[in-house]
Amino acid sequence: MSFDLVLFGGTGDLTWRKLMPALFQAHRHGTLPQLAMGTGRILAVARDARSDDDYRSFIRQKFADVEPSKQPSDAEFAEFAQALHYRPMDLAQPEHYAGLKRWLDDRGADTVMIFLATSPHLFIPICEQLGRAGINGANVRLVLEKPLGHDLASAQEINRAVRASFTESQALRIDHYLGKPAVQNLSALRFGNALFEPLWRRESIANIQITLAESIGVGTRGDFYDRTGALRDMIQNHALQLLTMIAMEPPSTSDADAIRDEKLKVLKSLKPFTADTVVRDVVRGQYKAGTVNGTAAIGYLQENKVPADSRTETFVAMRTEVQNWRWAGVPFYLRTGKRLPARDAQIVVNFRPVPHPIFPGSNQANKLVIKLQPEDGLELHLVAAKGNSNNELLTPVKLDLDFDRAFSTERVGAYERLLLDAIAGRLNLFVRSDEQEQAWRWVQPILQAWEADPNGPRTYAAGSWGPPASSAMVARDGCTWDEEQ
Ligand code: BG6
Repeated sequence: MSFDLVLFGGTGDLTWRKLMPALFQAHRHGTLPQLAMGTGRILAVARDARSDDDYRSFIRQKFADVEPSKQPSDAEFAEFAQALHYRPMDLAQPEHYAGLKRWLDDRGADTVMIFLATSPHLFIPICEQLGRAGINGANVRLVLEKPLGHDLASAQEINRAVRASFTESQALRIDHYLGKPAVQNLSALRFGNALFEPLWRRESIANIQITLAESIGVGTRGDFYDRTGALRDMIQNHALQLLTMIAMEPPSTSDADAIRDEKLKVLKSLKPFTADTVVRDVVRGQYKAGTVNGTAAIGYLQENKVPADSRTETFVAMRTEVQNWRWAGVPFYLRTGKRLPARDAQIVVNFRPVPHPIFPGSNQANKLVIKLQPEDGLELHLVAAKGNSNNELLTPVKLDLDFDRAFSTERVGAYERLLLDAIAGRLNLFVRSDEQEQAWRWVQPILQAWEADPNGPRTYAAGSWGPPASSAMVARDGCTWDEEQ
């Protein structure tokens, strides 16, 4: 199957930081043989004039910033670079799209993928122009990268423009968390094993915690981040997608829509926020100066391109519930933040303690920890008897499965996986517009409540786990965050 992949935003951050390394890895792994065979072309589009060779040199240099094991040798790059092309385009000019169409038609590839790795304000005009130029035939797929909107209204506006030129199955919305191996494993864990499903419900589960912690600050993205904040950047998409994967009913097939229908039902079952419950169940924070991993870190307000009076949150912790028979009353705690003590993404499923403990001191409940990063694994926490003099004393033990080690082959990175799926037309790991809009609908009252709140976010020291109010919020339910146990 031949393909053309057109990258709008071909000189931008996302392209050289994530997409090119992912495409190169796929080439190296032999999963995109078309690139070596000349039947797969990558066309970068951006405003400035340069030749194919200039563009290849630009990408070659950018690979120096990629982690060493993922850098190409000269020979590898020379082979990969043959598939790279460049085309200057003024995105407002219809004739430039007509030129692009001619370039695509000359080859007539089986599949054309248009990847919008541009600033989101360009999504609508690009979609309109693509439609007008006829670059929207049945063999064309459009891939959109977040942020997809700033709120419900802007997300709907983008979706309307996409729908005017493309069908729903042609539009692939990326949430790169869905491409992470650990997240795909979550489906395998739940629906490939009989073991957990009978326990996966309110009768056995006390609470679920999703933590997406980062130790980095906002770095060079201060202006973008300040317009965005942690709720839009991480909760509305990544954290909610993880929540749907945990809480969804078993789909009847592995078809993309069977899965996405179930995920949508979860989003629709989330307890709606009101102005009062936002105050009670959502904590927002902003980091001030502190120490992360032994290194001094400046506060958010001192970051480059961040206004000195910014009220943007860099931390969010919240409590919600999924209002259906399976989950009624089970708290789901979500938490994310920058400048936390570690890069640590995990989902903790805390089971209820045994109903009638007979061993002294044995009321320690089981928990399942699904680790997304830094390592990718599963931990099942149990208790066991040590078998020493007082064998009635139980001790905590854990079954620890490290997937990186368990599967000796190298695991495929999130963007590599998603690009391969997009080229092959596998839609399971892409977000449908109704899911995305429902997620915005759910966060909307929080955005409104914060807008109206004269108090800004609470502060927390860089290197801490966020404002103390986050621990207080879970303590109200008699719980603690996993790292406090
Ligand atoms: C992105 C956010 O979507 O996800 C970033 O915009 C964040 O702010 C990143 O740093 C985290 O992704 P990962 O894969 O490093 O956990």
